[in-house]
This record gives sequence, C-alpha cells and structure tokens, in this order.
Amino acid sequence: MKRLGVNIDHIATLRNARGELHPDPFYAAKIVKSHGADSVTIHLREDRRHIKDLDAKNICAIKNLLVNLEISIKNEIVKKALKIKPNYICIVPENRKEITTEGGLNLKKNKNKIKFIIRLFKKKKIRTSLFINPSLKDVLTSKELGTDCIEIHTGRFANLVKSKKNTKKEFLRIKKSSKLASEIGIEVHAGHGLDYKSTKILSKIKEIKEFNIGHFIIGESIFFGIKKVIKRFKKIIN
Ligand code: PXP
Repeated sequence: MKRLGVNIDHIATLRNARGELHPDPFYAAKIVKSHGADSVTIHLREDRRHIKDLDAKNICAIKNLLVNLEISIKNEIVKKALKIKPNYICIVPENRKEITTEGGLNLKKNKNKIKFIIRLFKKKKIRTSLFINPSLKDVLTSKELGTDCIEIHTGRFANLVKSKKNTKKEFLRIKKSSKLASEIGIEVHAGHGLDYKSTKILSKIKEIKEFNIGHFIIGESIFFGIKKVIKRFKKIIN
C-alpha cells in the first residue's frame, strides 16, 4: 500500500491572511488523519510565512499522528526541529524569494552539513528524508549521506502534465531514480505540484511508497470537502 501524506501548510496560509485563529492547522491535522491521511506534512519555514513555531509544537504533540516536518539546513530551524521531535523530517532547500520550494537540494554544496543533520536526527530515531531532483547522481549522493528516504521533486513532471506537454523523459527520470534508490536501500517518496492526473501516472512506479501532496488537496477541498478529496487520492495511489 502506498501512503498519502497531506501537507497542511496552506491552512495556515489562509489563517494568516486574516491574522486571526481560523482556520486552525491543528484542527486540520486531526481532520485529515480522521479521513485517512497516513501522515501530515508541515514546513516550518525560516520566514514563518505559514506554519508557526506553536503550530509545529502542538501538531507534533498530537497522539497517534505521524508528522513529517520539512526543514531547511539553517541551525535555528534544525535546533527547533530537534526540540519539537516530529516522527519524520524532510530536509528541503529554502530560498526567501520563492513562492514555493523550487527544486531539490544542492547536495554537492551542502554535503557535510546535511550529513551532520541526518546523523543528529537518526540518533533521536527520527526518520530522515532528502528532497532531491530526479537524478541518479543525487540518489547515490543521498546514500552516501546516510538518509533513510528520499523525496523526489515532482514539480517539473506535474507542470508538464498540466500543460499537456510530453512527460516521457521526466517520467523516466523519476522512474529510474526511484528504482536505483530502492535497490540501494533508500525508501522513495514523491511530491510537489501533484494533482489527480499526475499522481495517477506516478502511482505506476512501484518503488514510490509515499506521496506528499498539499496545495491541490487544500484547494480542491474548498469545492468538494477534504474527506472526498483524501478518499479520491487514496484510491488513485493504490
Ligand atoms: N513535498 C515537499 C518536500 C514540499 O516542499 C512540498 C511543498 O511544500 C510538497 C511536498 C507539497 O507540494 P504541493 O503543495 O505543491 O503539493
């Protein structure tokens, strides 16, 4: 069974637009779990544009909820994450000016730092993941760095699907990267920009064990309700 992680950052985006308390991501975390999400993803960004420290702390304290905390490699964020103790962490690149995470990590540039961070979390028995581009080289480097999992950035593939362009090359990149990772003992996840159509295509890759999907789920829920949307995604991925 493939798993579905629901990213609830944009519940916080909506709340923050008013500077008040509603809609509450803490409540959203409980709701998505009750409707079948296998885990909840939140990104504690350096600029705190959506999830805030207190959200992360409270959501990670919910019993029987698996929380995947996305973090950058900044010391301040790493320290916070170690204190909050999520079940999983996913290290992502962060750039202040970006609207959303724009690509995978630059593993070459940040090798030592990432290796050190992975070790810190593994010591605390927290599952580690690296958000990488679909590249065989990055998969091999991820292995060297000691990560448990990788999450393949699917943004490019998702955009090709949305614009009805040829997806063959990018699909093969994702497939080959997933296969190699799985062969060398790394669990494979996928995420970014996914909707029903792109998720359905990528579900054919048997090595992908988890999808992390946010913006589309939250947006679609406005029209159809989060219960129906999660149910449909669970059906698609399996
Ligand atoms: N996975 C990772 C590592 C991400 O950074 C994001 C975006 O925050 C997602 C998945 C979800 O992307 P989207 O909101 O486009 O579904």
